[in-house]
Amino acid sequence: MKLLNTSLGCLLIFALCFCGSVFAGRAAKDCIFNGTFTGLDDNCTRISGSILFGGSDAINTLYAKLAYVEEVNGCIQVTGTSYTRLDFFARLRSVTCTNTTLSVDFMVSNNSALERLGMPVLRVNRLGLTFNPKLCITTEESSRYTNVQRGAADNFTACQGRAGVLKECSSTPNGVNGGLPDDCELITGNLYVDGASNANITTKLQYVKEVYGRVYIRSTTLSNLTIPLLEKVYASEPTASTTLDPTINVASNMNFTKLSVPKINFMAKNDLSFLTSDASYVMDQDLCNQLSPFGNVMSNGTVCGRSCQD
Ligand SMILES: *[C@@H]1O[C@H](CO)[C@@H](O)[C@H](O)[C@H]1NC(C)=O
Ligand SMILES: *[C@@H]1O[C@H](CO)[C@@H](O)[C@H](O)[C@H]1NC(C)=O
Ligand SMILES: *[C@@H]1O[C@H](CO)[C@@H](O)[C@H](O)[C@H]1NC(C)=O
Ligand SMILES: *[C@@H]1O[C@H](CO)[C@@H](O)[C@H](O)[C@H]1NC(C)=O
Ligand SMILES: *[C@@H]1O[C@H](CO)[C@@H](O)[C@H](O)[C@H]1NC(C)=O
Ligand SMILES: *[C@@H]1O[C@H](CO)[C@@H](O)[C@H](O)[C@H]1NC(C)=O
Ligand SMILES: *[C@@H]1O[C@H](CO)[C@@H](O)[C@H](O)[C@H]1NC(C)=O
Ligand SMILES: *[C@@H]1O[C@H](CO)[C@@H](O)[C@H](O)[C@H]1NC(C)=O
Ligand SMILES: *[C@@H]1O[C@H](CO)[C@@H](O)[C@H](O)[C@H]1NC(C)=O
Repeated sequence: MKLLNTSLGCLLIFALCFCGSVFAGRAAKDCIFNGTFTGLDDNCTRISGSILFGGSDAINTLYAKLAYVEEVNGCIQVTGTSYTRLDFFARLRSVTCTNTTLSVDFMVSNNSALERLGMPVLRVNRLGLTFNPKLCITTEESSRYTNVQRGAADNFTACQGRAGVLKECSSTPNGVNGGLPDDCELITGNLYVDGASNANITTKLQYVKEVYGRVYIRSTTLSNLTIPLLEKVYASEPTASTTLDPTINVASNMNFTKLSVPKINFMAKNDLSFLTSDASYVMDQDLCNQLSPFGNVMSNGTVCGRSCQD
């Protein structure tokens, strides 16, 4: 990309980012896993080859290399790691393991720090969960992973929230207050804050820590929104998708000036982590700094925190 350093080049790349990703989605890309993640190509959507995670790979390498992987044609083993979540597989949907000497397709064993699986859309035939002493399972996971193999001494602990079992909710487009009940902690699909009936949205979202899909804030009359505890937005799709929407999409609001998500610490990598073209919105440095590591933050046609000289 020799145009990168010229201002014309920057404009062109800008246009490509905008048009290519927002409107056309990410193209399928087949890759071969040859034993190392650093040797794996970028932007793979399908990987062929069995994958063994032994804990020596830096988590940031995994976040960078596996972010767009939706299918693995091979067997997976995560053994003896100190990862707290397997959310580098935020978009993984299927694992096809044909090695008949293995008793499971996806083995997760002996991970002393593992707290949550963090793979919101994975469907796998045989999942092995043995000796992950801190791991808990959400209600949604226990209905999605129907064939779990584990040792006699292994718990299948239900994840706990602030008041008993973690409260999981789904949000509906164009609903009143996101279509949400009270006290939600995990949103199992996209979060939709849509339309004019959002007088109580701040209360509804006060305990939300995780969103499996994306966040939409559209056609509201809100002037601002704070999701104080939100930590993770997985940006996952349950089905193959031709579009890769921004992780947070703010559109067609009359008076929206500010979004605050002070606790964000993970979003699956995306071309755009935040997009708005609302005229009322003025990008603030806090949001720019927080979300830029996970994808470009774009408002009114400008990517924040970045100049054409970069
Ligand atoms: C894997 O592939 C990458 C690039 O395709 C290469 O650089 C690397 O040496 C390969 N590693 C092995 C173990 O073959
Ligand atoms: C991966 O995708 C990004 C845009 O999302 C692009 O800048 C980069 O060149 C791609 N890398 C490869 C190896 O395709
Ligand atoms: C099947 O898995 C076993 C145990 O991990 C391994 O030794 C063997 O090489 C695998 N076979 C194939 C064909 O990958
Ligand atoms: C897990 O740890 C147990 C006990 O330390 C050991 O017997 C077992 O072989 C380990 N399993 C794997 C897959 O490493
Ligand atoms: C099972 O759960 C109990 C209490 O919930 C805990 O004390 C124990 O360590 C757990 N065992 C394993 C193997 O996770
Ligand atoms: C907000 O909550 C108040 C008090 O519970 C209720 O009267 C009102 O109808 C709610 N409005 C909306 C839009 O949810
Ligand atoms: C936007 O703000 C203006 C001025 O504060 C107000 O008059 C108008 O009703 C607001 N529009 C909406 C849709 O809330
Ligand atoms: C945020 O919006 C609420 C009502 O939606 C309003 O009362 C408050 O003043 C706004 N705060 C800021 C800083 O604009
Ligand atoms: C949006 O961009 C246009 C054109 O660059 C500019 O005139 C306008 O002031 C910008 N609005 C905001 C809110 O930054």
